[in-house]
Formats: sequence, C-alpha cells, structure tokens
Amino acid sequence: MATGNAAATPRDNWGSKLGFVMAAAGSAVGLGNIWKFPYTAGENGGGAFVLIYLAFVIVIGFSVMLTEFAIGRHTSRAAVGSFKTTDRRWSFVGIIGVLSGLLIMGFYPVVGGWALAYIPKVATGLLDNPQDIGESFGGFISNPTQPLLWMAAYFILNIVIVSKGISGGIEKAGKILMPLLFLILVVVAVKGLSLPGASAGLEFLFKPDFSKVDSHVVLAALGQAFFSLSLGMGCMITYGSYLKKKENLVQTTGMVVGMDTAVALLAGIAMFPAMFAFNMEPAAGPGLVFVVVPQLFAEMGHIGLLFALMFFIGLTVAALTSSVSLLEVVVSYLIDEKGMKRVNAVLSASAVMAVMCIFASLSLGGIGPKLFDTGVFDIFDLLTDKVFLAVGGMLICIFAGWRLNRVDLEKEITNNGKIAFPLFGLWYNLVKYVIPVAVAVVACAGIISGFESGKGAIMVLAIAIIGCSALISKKL
Ligand code: PFF
Repeated sequence: MATGNAAATPRDNWGSKLGFVMAAAGSAVGLGNIWKFPYTAGENGGGAFVLIYLAFVIVIGFSVMLTEFAIGRHTSRAAVGSFKTTDRRWSFVGIIGVLSGLLIMGFYPVVGGWALAYIPKVATGLLDNPQDIGESFGGFISNPTQPLLWMAAYFILNIVIVSKGISGGIEKAGKILMPLLFLILVVVAVKGLSLPGASAGLEFLFKPDFSKVDSHVVLAALGQAFFSLSLGMGCMITYGSYLKKKENLVQTTGMVVGMDTAVALLAGIAMFPAMFAFNMEPAAGPGLVFVVVPQLFAEMGHIGLLFALMFFIGLTVAALTSSVSLLEVVVSYLIDEKGMKRVNAVLSASAVMAVMCIFASLSLGGIGPKLFDTGVFDIFDLLTDKVFLAVGGMLICIFAGWRLNRVDLEKEITNNGKIAFPLFGLWYNLVKYVIPVAVAVVACAGIISGFESGKGAIMVLAIAIIGCSALISKKL
C-alpha cells in the first residue's frame, strides 16, 4: 500500500493502473474470501445466503467502494483527514473507521498466524494422516501457546512491512502469489468436484432455500460484503487518495469488486463439494479451510504436498496484503492526527492489537473473559463485521449524499465530464437514500433477532461504542 504521510501534499500516485487495482484488490482479497466466506455461507444455510451476499455486493458494495474512492481522490486525504478537511463535525466517521481497524486487527492476525503455521505443518507431514487433520486443527487452535507464537511471527511481518512506509515488496509478492493462489483454488475446485457425492456441495452453495433466511442471515451477508470488500472503515478512501486524476473510478471499482467476488465464490466451489464428499458438516465453523483443503491435497499424493504448500504460502500473503492495509489505517491516523513518527505509530498500534489478539487466541481454547457467553475472538468478529463496518459504510454514504456536493461528486467520478457514467443518477440516489435506509433496517432487524442468542446485546454495545466515539471525537 503506497500510503505515507496522508496529510502531505503532493501525494505519491500509483505508478500504473494495474498497480493500483492489484493493491486495492490485495486489501480486499484476504482471509475474508478464503477463510470467512465459506464458513459463513456454511453456517447461514448456503445458497440463499450466497444470493443475498451477491446482491449486496453488486448494489451496496460497488456503490460504497465507488463512494470511498471518490471521497479519497477528491480530498487527497486518508480516512480521518478526508472527513476533517471537509467538515470537522464529520471527523467521527473517520475515527469509527480507525476503531474498526483496531478491532479487526484484534483477531485477524490470529488467523493469519494459523495460515503461516500451516506452511511448516504441511511440510512436516500433516497430509500423511488425512483422518487426523480435523483433530490436529482443533488441538492446534485451542493450545494456549502455539497459536500465539505464530500470531507473533505473523505480526512481526506486518510491523516490518508497515514501518517501512510503503509496502512495495509485499505488493510485488502479491502480484505473483495472488494469481497463483487463484490457480491453486481452481485446482482444488476441480479436484473437489471430481469426488463422488460432490454435486450435493454445489447444490448447497448455489440452490437457494429461502426457508433458512432470517434477519440474522441477511445481516451476516451484508457484513460479509463489507468485510470482504474492505469497506466501511475508510481503507478504500485512503487508497483512493493516491489515485491519479485521469483514472476511471467506475472501471477500477468494477475490477476490484469483480476480483474479490470471484475469489470468494471460487473458495466456496473449492470447499463445499469436497466437504459433502467427505461427509463433513457445512456449519463446521472457522476451521473449514484448514481442514478441508489439506484433506483434499492429501488425496493427491506428492503433487498434493506441493499444492498444499503453495496454497498456505498464498493464503498467508493474501492475509498480509489485507492486514497491512488495516494496520495502515490506524497508523496513518496516529501520524497525521497525533503527529507521531511512523515507527512509534506502528509499534504503539501493534502493541494494543497484539494484546487484543492474545485474548482472542486464548478464547478459542476456552480461556479468558466472556460476554453473554461469547469469547473475545467472536466478540471482535461480531462487533466489526456485523456492526462497525456496516454502520461506517452507511455514514460514509450519508456524508457523500448529504454533505458533499452532487456536482463535485459527478465531476470527480466522470473526471470532469471526460468519462461517461450513465448510471450516475442511480448511484447517487442509492448512496443518498437507499443504502443508508437499507443498512439501518438490516442492522436493526439483525440486532433484534440476535437477542435470542445474547449476541444482540453485544451488537447494541457496538452501537454504544460508536455513539461514544462520535461524541468524544467532537472534543478532539
Ligand atoms: N477485506 C479483507 C479480507 O477479506 O480479508 C479484510 C479487510 C481489510 C477488511 C481491510 C477491512 C479493511 F479495511
């Protein structure tokens, strides 16, 4: 991510269009697509969830990403600065984004650490006993120390990348490894589809059964769309602030949304047929990718070992290109708004995040505090993708629709009339009216239905945190 001091002008611009698209796609494509999407689809009944998710991606995700890019390029500022320079009263939206980044980084590196750990695990014989792969994963994540060491190693990689200011190296690695990961997913999908009984998996994933849909499923689909596309916390505003004035924002948005969605669907196609063939539960939870993929590769002999290694290297890099963008949102806030030096900003943000990750990781082994019977890992996950990102996205839309000027937005998106965007009116009305109302309705209904499981109370807590941060940030 070519983010430096966001308050500094003139800003660096992305060298090439492809460079920008790959960097933004690097933030979007990550654990959200390959780890989270399949198990969330599994837990929420499959086909109907996938259909609702796709509808949200196309209508809401696309519009919000275009809005974030337009705000970023228009103001040439990172998340908080872009609101602050327009109207100080709106700074709280940026602050909420920073808080979201902090919370996501309270559990994301735990899973990044698992991906990293699976590289040596695969290399040292994990695939030799396919029947033990499931148990080995359960034992690993509930072990109090092992996952912490891997999380620390993963965190150090993030710190090194972000302290250097620009993550050129990781982006180059991403440019090679992400297409490779995509190809490996294709191999996994083809192998999975060839197993007997696999077609039931495809049916589960693509044949909607609307009797399984309730307001919680709809909120899960909305949250997944925001999380997967890196929306609702100003990350894409920061990326947009580095976009050249001549680039086509609509086309760029289409490419990033398209790539992200393709990877998520492919991960689903790679996972579900195999799961059904292996007689596994679709609602197997967060271990899905770490159990199904090694089992599939175990069936493929030596070449399977090589593919499995490349898969977990690719997954780690995909996770890294996302988590550095999360860390950067918090770091650029500390640099721009608090005047900290980059290294100090990285170290202090990371220290807080690492402590959160320790609690998150331990909670998977049943250790540590619980709130309404929910462990820390699940609380962070619930707070961010079910509430923070959606509410953040809604506020970003309200800001664009009601605070910014329609003519300015049209000029920004059409490059002063040089690029045709016949759907501008539709996009504008979606952003101004439809998305804020839709997100509010989905979030409220999801929160109310969440009360049955105690999760509603945690989500209300999130709303309270958002409210408090709005009030506090007014005083900052
Ligand atoms: N989109 C990332 C993923 O799918 O793994 C996660 C993420 C990155 C969310 C950056 C939000 C963000 F700002």
